[in-house]
Amino acid sequence: MKASDMEKKKVYIETYGCQMNVNDTEVMLSILEDAGYEPAETMEEADVILANTCSIRENAEQRVWGRIDRFRLEKKKRGGVIIGITGCMAERLKDKLLDNHVVDLVAGPDSYRSLPEMLRNVSPDNPQINVLLSHEETYADIVPVRTDKNGVSAYISIMRGCNNACSYCVVPYTRGAERSRDPKTILREAEDLFSRGYREVCLLGQNVDSYFWEDPESADGNVNFAQLLEAVAKISPDLRVRFSTSHPKDISDEVIYTMAMYENICRHIHLPVQSGSDVMLEKMRRKYTREWYLERVRKIRSVIPDCGLTTDVIAGFCSETEEDHKATLSLMEEVGFDSAFMFQYSERPGTLAARKYPDDVPEETKTRRLNEIIALQSRMSLLSNEKDVGKTFRVLTEGTSKKSEGELFGRTSSNKVCVFPAEGHGKGEYLEVEVVSCTSATLIAKLKQH
Ligand code: 5AD
Ligand code: SF4
Repeated sequence: MKASDMEKKKVYIETYGCQMNVNDTEVMLSILEDAGYEPAETMEEADVILANTCSIRENAEQRVWGRIDRFRLEKKKRGGVIIGITGCMAERLKDKLLDNHVVDLVAGPDSYRSLPEMLRNVSPDNPQINVLLSHEETYADIVPVRTDKNGVSAYISIMRGCNNACSYCVVPYTRGAERSRDPKTILREAEDLFSRGYREVCLLGQNVDSYFWEDPESADGNVNFAQLLEAVAKISPDLRVRFSTSHPKDISDEVIYTMAMYENICRHIHLPVQSGSDVMLEKMRRKYTREWYLERVRKIRSVIPDCGLTTDVIAGFCSETEEDHKATLSLMEEVGFDSAFMFQYSERPGTLAARKYPDDVPEETKTRRLNEIIALQSRMSLLSNEKDVGKTFRVLTEGTSKKSEGELFGRTSSNKVCVFPAEGHGKGEYLEVEVVSCTSATLIAKLKQH
């Protein structure tokens, strides 16, 4: 009997963490659809309930634990429901998650092809686990089932894993070694999205600048990130290209010049600095100095003056002094980031920092420093937005604004959110807008009259 002849089983996946995890959920849905499952909108209608998880900070894991309790309640209410954990927490906690029958299934980030088989074999006495990490798996041939609601902007994974060893970070342990995906499959996926009406793709990797594809069949067939970016940009001038995340130690002049050459490569770089203190950067094993970072910023701005710059910052890393913290604040002020993701350090078991450095900055100090960082950034974000008032931007509309039906929202090339009256327009359109005012988070605009 074919899967289509049966009553289809429904799978509900809740996604936590980064954009890469969102894309992984889409890959899982594709694999499961091929095996005869269909996506469920809510957990109440699902036969299989999965949490695709994140381990990057302790509070990310805490949130997932809360949801697992909720899943278990659902399982108790209805017989025959299978609950599982996939992604980084599955990889980090492994068979601990099967103890006391917490869940029925545990699948690490490289094992999603085995989900259908695991679901076939699972039973109360036979919980399933696959947490093997791979050096090859990139899910290159799998066409993700898009879960974005807008049909305008989609993520494409171009690589998996990470070969850096930032001392605070659990990602190399949970997602394994870095591997790049065949560029032909990336281009095919982007072309397919464009032909289905998508107008923006975001190329994803933990460190996109180290993307490298070696073609064994031709001597000059190697592809680096700049070349991949160019190839995707050439698909159509109406397909905007974004990418994330760049690493300050690896972002090359070639990438910066390629961005400048193509109007449809968005003028935005997410360049996590983490700290402005050389002592902290060394301890974090980031492999660059404050001066190196500032030089990269100067280079970007000299080649692409209107480039949006955003960053990640960690407050209160091991033995961080008041002087180190001030160095972070002064770097933020010097660069003037458009926005930032800001965190207080949380020790992750198994990382180099957890093994070597005491987590010795008191909680209140971490929180106070983080608050100072957030306050400074919101001033900088407002300043950056104020500079755009009166300017005209070409935005790609993504949908109606959350606050008002009569308004659309879209993003500028530099990745700023813009809200403006719809005046009969819809999503997926490129429109010229003039900024009339702003908050620290949003540009408020009006349509340019032609
Ligand atoms: N504690 C706090 N923040 C962390 N990040 C990664 N690991 C940790 C940690 N242990 C932050 C970094 C990274 C972002 C994705 O998460 O800033 O760039
Ligand atoms: Fe973690 Fe560093 Fe890799 Fe980013 S580059 S995923 S912070 S180890």
